[in-house]
Amino acid sequence: MNNNNLKKEILRLKKENNACIMAHYYQEDDIQDVADFIGDSLALAKIATTVKEDIIIVCGVNFMGETAKILSPDKKVIMPDINAGCSLADSCSAEDLEVFIKNHPGYKVISYVNTSAKVKALTDIVVTSSNAKKIVDSLPKEEKIIFGPDKNLGGYINKITGRDMLLWDGGCHVHQRFSYSKIVELKKQYPNAEILVHPECPSEIVDIADFAGSTLAILNYAGESKANIFIIVTECGILHQLQIKYPDKRFIAAPVEEDKIKCNKCDYMRMCTLEKLYDCLKNKTPEIVIEEKLRIKALKPIRAMLELS
Ligand code: 13P
Ligand code: SF4
Repeated sequence: MNNNNLKKEILRLKKENNACIMAHYYQEDDIQDVADFIGDSLALAKIATTVKEDIIIVCGVNFMGETAKILSPDKKVIMPDINAGCSLADSCSAEDLEVFIKNHPGYKVISYVNTSAKVKALTDIVVTSSNAKKIVDSLPKEEKIIFGPDKNLGGYINKITGRDMLLWDGGCHVHQRFSYSKIVELKKQYPNAEILVHPECPSEIVDIADFAGSTLAILNYAGESKANIFIIVTECGILHQLQIKYPDKRFIAAPVEEDKIKCNKCDYMRMCTLEKLYDCLKNKTPEIVIEEKLRIKALKPIRAMLELS
């Protein structure tokens, strides 16, 4: 089947099965085009609590499917590729975090949403890049905090909140491979361009940004800004929605170290394809299953986040 026919079939099966498709901005363009909701991690988590349909299909990575299931246990949550992981989530195992927490008694544990359900179960409050500052700011100044697993996001939040949180040494391979020197060169070529950066990027890149924020915040900022040209320093899937929303503005995908990569894609996010989405809808599998005891433990810090954001 060609892509157009696949899309038609997906939309038909979606109706027939009373299913709702949620997609992250880092999904391929065709998947974004058939999605009912496109959002950043926080928006997708919030939407999961309001879905009316019987089936939620999460086009994203595993922790997003888990978060949807944790928040909507009565729904069937399926994913086109259940093995779509995340290098950042992988950089913090529950076993290692448990030891770290034991070695640092009295600390509040804040975990980025890019973590497994088991890590969330060891956490006090989950955050996303959309609400991390607000949530950290809401805690007493003297509170001792462990923040993980993204050291770049943690360092950025330390800087803008004046905190000294203890940072887990983890990172996202996609955001770490942008090239600072090539971005500086590009800016010289386009002096009127604004640099919009995801805070998972290294600090020297965040430091030269005109704006740093989550994928949704980047989208909103691009619309509000008076600038007409932007260098976008995050996974390049976001350019699809930027171009759709603001067709008169120009968006340039930021360069990475390797010259041959023109569009910095997350290999995990891109494991989800139209064909797999079609199969997933047709067979209603693979399904996200979380043991109830673990789900309840992981739900607590996600609820805390939703209450605070
Ligand atoms: P946001 O969608 O919260 O900006 O996170 C980006 C990300 O890396 C998701 O994997
Ligand atoms: Fe994980 Fe990075 Fe991919 Fe986001 S972009 S899913 S943080 S590996």
